[in-house]
Order: sequence, then C-alpha cells, then structure tokens
Amino acid sequence: MNNILFDINAAKQLDSQDELSVYRNDFNIPKFNQQDSIYFAGNSLGLQRKNYDFYLKQEMEDWKKMGVEGHFKAKTAWVNYHQSLESATSRLVGAKTNEVVTMNGLSVNLHLLLTSFYQPTKEKYKILCEPHLFPSDLYIVQSQIQLNGFNPDNSIVFIPSDSNGVVDEDQLYSLIETHKDELALIFIGGVNYYTGQVFNIAKITEIGHQHNIIVGFDLAHAAGNIDLQLHDWEVDFAAWCSYKYLNAGPGNVSTVFIHEKQIKKKPFRLSAWWGHKLKNRFVLQDKFEPIHTAEGWQLSNAPVLGMSVYRNSIELFDEIGMPKLIAKRNRLTAYLESAIKEYNKLKSTNNFKIITPGKPEERGSQLSVFIENNGEYIYDYLKSNGVFLDWREPNVMRMAPVPLYNSFQDVAKFYNTLIKCI
Ligand SMILES: Cc1ncc(COP(=O)(O)O)c(C=O)c1O
Repeated sequence: MNNILFDINAAKQLDSQDELSVYRNDFNIPKFNQQDSIYFAGNSLGLQRKNYDFYLKQEMEDWKKMGVEGHFKAKTAWVNYHQSLESATSRLVGAKTNEVVTMNGLSVNLHLLLTSFYQPTKEKYKILCEPHLFPSDLYIVQSQIQLNGFNPDNSIVFIPSDSNGVVDEDQLYSLIETHKDELALIFIGGVNYYTGQVFNIAKITEIGHQHNIIVGFDLAHAAGNIDLQLHDWEVDFAAWCSYKYLNAGPGNVSTVFIHEKQIKKKPFRLSAWWGHKLKNRFVLQDKFEPIHTAEGWQLSNAPVLGMSVYRNSIELFDEIGMPKLIAKRNRLTAYLESAIKEYNKLKSTNNFKIITPGKPEERGSQLSVFIENNGEYIYDYLKSNGVFLDWREPNVMRMAPVPLYNSFQDVAKFYNTLIKCI
C-alpha cells in the first residue's frame, strides 16, 4: 500500500505552505511525456531561468548597435562587466566585494589560486585533500605539486574515510595536527561531490591557521547550497562554478574568493592585461601594475555573454537570500530521505543506504545512495521514467532536490515511481 505521506495530495499541501514554491515557475523544467520531469540533477547542471537572457539581450543589442564602443559605452560597460556580479556573488558567500572576481572556468581558476597559494618549502610541501576528491581537482593538485618540483605520490595526504568515503571530522582535525609540520596547504571541497558531505569550513580553516597552513576550498557543490561566511571564517581562497546550484548554464564562468589578508600580502600571481590597473591598462605599457583586489588575478577580458546569464541567475539568489533557501532545503532533503527509508520499509529490504551524513549541518541538497543490488537497473528505470539523477561507480546514485525549483510533489512522484520499479 502506498504511504500516505507520499500521496500526491499530501505533497501538494506541503507545496502550498512553501513560500518559495512560486519560484519554480521561473524555470524551464525539462519535460517527460509532456509533463514536468523530476529533475534531481541540479547539483550537476542547474536549470535554465525562463528569463535567462534578460541581460544577454541587452549585451547583444549593445554589440549590434555599438560594436567595439560597447567596451566603454554599453549600458553595463564591458570593460568592467565582472563588477556587475560583485555584489551578488560576494553576498552569496559572505565576502567583501574586493575579495571576489568572476572569470574563466573553475579548473583554470583553481590552477591560478594554487599558483599563488601553494608555496611549498623543503619541509612544508604536502597538501591535505579529502577522499573522493573530484578528479579535476586531483589532477590540478598533482600537476601543481610537479610544477613545484615535488612528487605527487608522497605529497598528498588523503583524509581517511569509511568505506563509502564519509570522513569523521575529529579524525580530520587530528590528521592536520599529525601532519602540521609538513602541510603547505589544505585543499578540500566544501561539499564533497560524491558523498554530499558538508565540511566544517570554519573549523578546518581555524585549525589550519593555528599551524601556519594555507586553507582553500573548491565550492563547486557548496555555492548556492550551503551557508558560507568566507570572510569571517578567514578562508584564504576559494572558487566555484556557476552552472550547478547557481543555474548559469553549461560550462559557464567561475568566481574566485581571495581573502583581503592574502591580497594585502601581494602573493605571486600569474599576470595578464585584465589584472592591470584600468587607469592605464590601454596605454599598453611593458610594466605590469596589478589591481590590488581579487580583480588583479584576472587574465583575459571578460566573457560578457556568459557572465550576463550568470548575472541574471545570481540576482535571484540575492533576492531570496540563502537563509530561506537553506530552510526549505532542509525540509525537502529530509522528505526525500524519508521517501528512501519508506521504500526500504515497504519492500522489506535494506537495498538503499544513504551514505550522506544525516545531520542537517553535514549535508546540503544532495543525497548519495549506495544501492546494494540491481543499482544500474534501478537507475535506468528511474531515468526512463522521467527522473533525472546521476550514477557514480561502483553503486552510487546521487540526487539533489533543489529548493529553488524542486517541489515536495517532485519527491512524492519520485517515491511513487520508485516503488513501481522493484
Ligand atoms: C567539485 C568539482 N571541481 C571541479 C570541477 C570542474 O569544473 P570545470 O569543468 O568547470 O572546470 C567540477 C565539475 O563538475 C566539480 O564538480
């Protein structure tokens, strides 16, 4: 018998009490059999806002009418286009506006940041990383170690985990103590992409700093998903992409954060013309005069078209604010968690094991589920019945009900689809 909690009318009731439910209508939800699909893949690629081109249209129009003059005369001058994203991106992560800049893709930015902030010595050269580090991050760390003349095989300290990849935080803190004299850098994902575990960014940073270790985070799965106070927590650097929870479209630009304490120390940075002071940038002189904010890390002139879509999507986060999104996120994730537990109960099985930590402060929108038996069959069944989620070897299904556009009805429909599978 179907569980009453996941009856569609019960879910409709929950949606009617949700003040954020109006925002769903702002988004294009991919269709399945002419109906809205159940889109739980916003942790991979966020959905498109219906008015995604609000600023894009303006930039296209300015380009059409002004050509090159748009650099200085467009409604939002392209030469400073990144600044139109500063307020909203800094508020999103608890930063000052001079600590953020939007540019490039995420992996490129992580390389730029590690070039500045991974400064190993003969004694202190190791990097502490989480298990299941996203492969791109691993390649970045390995190649940066090599670039500095060290051997990646003995320069990365991986945090131990349980068999599913979940880290015990106390073990993590004592590992920092154990390796404190060898660590040059702690570099962790704020939310692990595989397990969905949220790390205690403030505490890791504090412990790292007690031992003179630079602390940076990849926030690809954290920005727009969890509470971030990067300035107050004194995080040294961070970067995130705009296309997951932030809905700016495939492969779109990334934002970096560099704490003003670090900016003031004037660390080495790779230089190019967009990091040069604007005042005399176009004199095209030989001497590089960097901007003394995060903008000084810029290399190329701003990709205005992509940024204009990001600008439009990030403004919605600014309008709603993270506290409301987080409150709904907790309810929605808990509802999905009960749907999965209810499935096990109904089928008298333990086939679905949620590996994401259960405490709200240790998880965001994403639940990762280890499926003991018939995992790929279940995943394929769900996919061919209009459920978007993703599959990671060996047997993990990741799903993220996103508070901005997912509904309680989505979760109820998911449950009612799942129980028909096996
Ligand atoms: C945690 C994490 N880091 C880095 C990347 C790489 O992002 P990009 O391809 O935008 O450089 C991704 C992409 O999904 C990611 O999830």
